[in-house]
Amino acid sequence: MSQLNELCWIFLLLMIPSTPAMYDHYRLPTALEPLHYNLRILTHLESTDQWFEGSVNIDLLARESTKNITLHAAYLKIDENRTTVRSDKDNNCFTDIEVNEVYNFYILHLCQELEKGQLYQLELHFSAKLNDSLSGYYKSSYTDESRKEVHRLAITQFSPTFARQAFPCFDEPSFKSTFNVTLGHHKNYTGLTGMPVLGCEEQFSAMENWGLVVFNEERLPENQGVDLQQQKDKYAETVAHEYAHQWFGNLVTMKWWNDLWLKEGTSTYFAYLALDILQPDLTRGERFIAKDLGTFFGKDSSDTVPAISKDVKDPSQILGQFTEYVYEKGALTVRMLHKLIGKESFFRGIRSFLSKYSLGNVAQGDLWDSLEEAAHLDFNLSRAMDSWTLQGGYPLVTLIRDYKTGGLTLNQTRFYQGQNISKNSPCCLLECLKKEEDLLPWQRGVGILNGLGALLHGQEAKEFKIYMKRLLLPLYNSFPKLAGIALSKPALKDIPFLQFVYSQSCRHHVDDCINQAKLLNTFHRNGSQVELPIDFQKIAYCSFLEEGGEKEFLTIFGLFQNSTNAAQRRIWASALGCTRDFKLFEHHAKTLGEIFKKKELTGLLVSLAENLQSREELEQLSVHLKDLKEYEEPLRKALDLGQINQKWLKDCSSDFSEALRKRI
Ligand SMILES: *[C@@H]1O[C@H](CO)[C@@H](O)[C@H](O)[C@H]1NC(C)=O
Ligand SMILES: *[C@@H]1O[C@H](CO)[C@@H](O)[C@H](O)[C@H]1NC(C)=O
Ligand SMILES: *[C@@H]1O[C@H](CO)[C@@H](O)[C@H](O)[C@H]1NC(C)=O
Ligand SMILES: *[C@@H]1O[C@H](CO)[C@@H](O)[C@H](O)[C@H]1NC(C)=O
Ligand SMILES: *[C@@H]1O[C@H](CO)[C@@H](O)[C@H](O)[C@H]1NC(C)=O
Ligand SMILES: *[C@@H]1O[C@H](CO)[C@@H](O)[C@H](O)[C@H]1NC(C)=O
Ligand SMILES: *[C@@H]1O[C@H](CO)[C@@H](O)[C@H](O)[C@H]1NC(C)=O
Ligand SMILES: *[C@@H]1O[C@H](CO)[C@@H](O)[C@H](O)[C@H]1NC(C)=O
Ligand SMILES: *[C@@H]1O[C@H](CO)[C@@H](O)[C@H](O)[C@H]1NC(C)=O
Ligand SMILES: *[C@@H]1O[C@H](CO)[C@@H](O)[C@H](O)[C@H]1NC(C)=O
Ligand SMILES: [Zn+2]
Repeated sequence: MSQLNELCWIFLLLMIPSTPAMYDHYRLPTALEPLHYNLRILTHLESTDQWFEGSVNIDLLARESTKNITLHAAYLKIDENRTTVRSDKDNNCFTDIEVNEVYNFYILHLCQELEKGQLYQLELHFSAKLNDSLSGYYKSSYTDESRKEVHRLAITQFSPTFARQAFPCFDEPSFKSTFNVTLGHHKNYTGLTGMPVLGCEEQFSAMENWGLVVFNEERLPENQGVDLQQQKDKYAETVAHEYAHQWFGNLVTMKWWNDLWLKEGTSTYFAYLALDILQPDLTRGERFIAKDLGTFFGKDSSDTVPAISKDVKDPSQILGQFTEYVYEKGALTVRMLHKLIGKESFFRGIRSFLSKYSLGNVAQGDLWDSLEEAAHLDFNLSRAMDSWTLQGGYPLVTLIRDYKTGGLTLNQTRFYQGQNISKNSPCCLLECLKKEEDLLPWQRGVGILNGLGALLHGQEAKEFKIYMKRLLLPLYNSFPKLAGIALSKPALKDIPFLQFVYSQSCRHHVDDCINQAKLLNTFHRNGSQVELPIDFQKIAYCSFLEEGGEKEFLTIFGLFQNSTNAAQRRIWASALGCTRDFKLFEHHAKTLGEIFKKKELTGLLVSLAENLQSREELEQLSVHLKDLKEYEEPLRKALDLGQINQKWLKDCSSDFSEALRKRI
């Protein structure tokens, strides 16, 4: 019988004589406050059915009188015969147990009321299987490549609502408590928590928990031999981000998940700052901000975009809050504050925020107050900032000049991409871009142009190509030739701009870009001395595939299939999305479905969407992918990403081709 069934069984048996459910609010009652947990976990990794058992002894303070104890538990088998509730004076008992499956409440209805102001101890014993759900307390394994040995491990993922799968607890961010943790395991294994070890015994080792940061192996520097620079940067960002959480999230915690951005936005931004202080020449933080800004203006301009701070109730809504949008807009919001009030005030305010609320809980207003105080502002910071976090979008400020009086009027409205830029802007774009020397405006501008171009037909699509060639030519000529890239040894910080220039130039057949890419490709596949730097492989393979047919497709597909190097496989997978012959996907659908990992498939589909070049292609693609059920969802996401199906693009495409015609 599975754990879930057993829980239901207890639930049914005990519910019959009980009173109807009275409490269905999504938050725990606040009548009881957990002060301290003594948690003991014994893990059976060595047995064939890997499982764990444990006990938790919780010191509770009754803030109000109450006749029940309500806490969280999920997928745990709780042995009700060993449950005890006592105070210094006497033992209590319970009449029945109620389970709320929506909010994972485990409710003990007590024989006697707990009295306001008194301390109580609740003890529960529980067990569960370790499954590979990647949540709660779960199992995993890795293979020692040199010895070909499989090693088992069990690990936790508690955020946001999974601690309740490891032990019964008050699993809400505002119930901060201290813990004594005792981990028991077979002597072949090691137990780790975030605090120094207090003591070990030959059988059961003891540790205390706060801040053990756990990473997937591939994210650690020594495992990043061959990988794209962007990928390495992302891993560095993840490591810095997790350490920033020691302050934002662990030391100071948001009261509830509506304010998730408060820990994710700050940690994301402080990770960027830390990376740039650590290695300023790599400008990683700056580049992440540029990337976030680039996506932000697009994402945040549709009328359906939610506020980053919003009501969330059940576990799935809470999990749904963890979107890139919350991280990115959160980080940008913190950065805006930094720039608004200046470095000195910003750091003074952040320090005072962290020390004032150390080991406590906060709402976003507490951050505004700390910063406002540090900066001695003469305006209401809460009012200004709430408008960024409690609603989606960003403002469009129009400056109106009265030439008669010399006066200026600033008018502010919310910016909507569809309404506000459709008519004139592709043309405020076609002119300005040429003069730009930074990656960000080029990336954003060319992204929008490609999106529009992909909606054009026949002659218009041809005119678009001519226009793009002309637009990109001067930019392309200002960079070294692609085939010599290994020799020109570009600085790490320039790689993203180079990648952008070469990939767009080859896509639009600017000058000799395709030939250069082919040359690079031949060198590589001929096993010549000239190395193909990993950051430029995709561009080279893309041109090879774009120009080629089934033979080329199968060559790259073969390389992909034969490789066990994860980074290399991802490059080949995403290059496969550059093919223009969509029939190939239909022919090889079954194999593709079987051998692609999810990340690889996503890379391929994103590539497909990004490279769509006309409405005909979009139609063909839907025809050839229509039978591939497993492609549907990721492809839809990829198309969203490529902005292909945004309504505003469609509305604007006729004005656009008109403007194009004037310019070629
Ligand atoms: C448990 O007690 C709290 C506080 O007295 C109360 O709000 C809640 O409704 C009770 N829950 C149940 C299921 O009776
Ligand atoms: C709890 O005790 C009852 C009565 O002794 C027994 O029937 C039941 O099996 C016990 N439950 C567990 C989980 O041990
Ligand atoms: C693993 O546990 C989760 C809950 O933690 C449950 O939803 C899932 O069904 C379990 N999976 C297996 C294979 O037992
Ligand atoms: C936690 O463990 C330490 C070391 O064993 C002990 O001194 C302390 O009393 C424990 N705390 C509680 C609240 O049980
Ligand atoms: C513990 O390790 C020893 C030595 O590697 C091995 O012989 C033994 O089978 C292991 N025991 C378990 C339960 O894994
Ligand atoms: C600042 O604005 C908020 C509303 O966003 C308001 O609640 C607060 O009272 C204002 N503070 C002052 C000092 O005016
Ligand atoms: C400012 O915007 C408002 C609302 O959109 C509009 O009514 C008003 O005429 C605008 N003011 C000027 C000077 O354009
Ligand atoms: C932008 O679009 C919105 C929605 O249509 C409109 O209310 C607003 O006035 C527009 N702003 C400008 C400056 O055109
Ligand atoms: C690569 O190898 C092919 C076939 O062996 C040959 O035709 C071609 O000239 C070589 N290209 C280069 C650049 O060495
Ligand atoms: C893949 O590996 C097989 C077996 O080793 C080999 O026959 C085949 O040529 C390889 N394909 C490529 C494209 O390297
Ligand atoms: Zn985080």
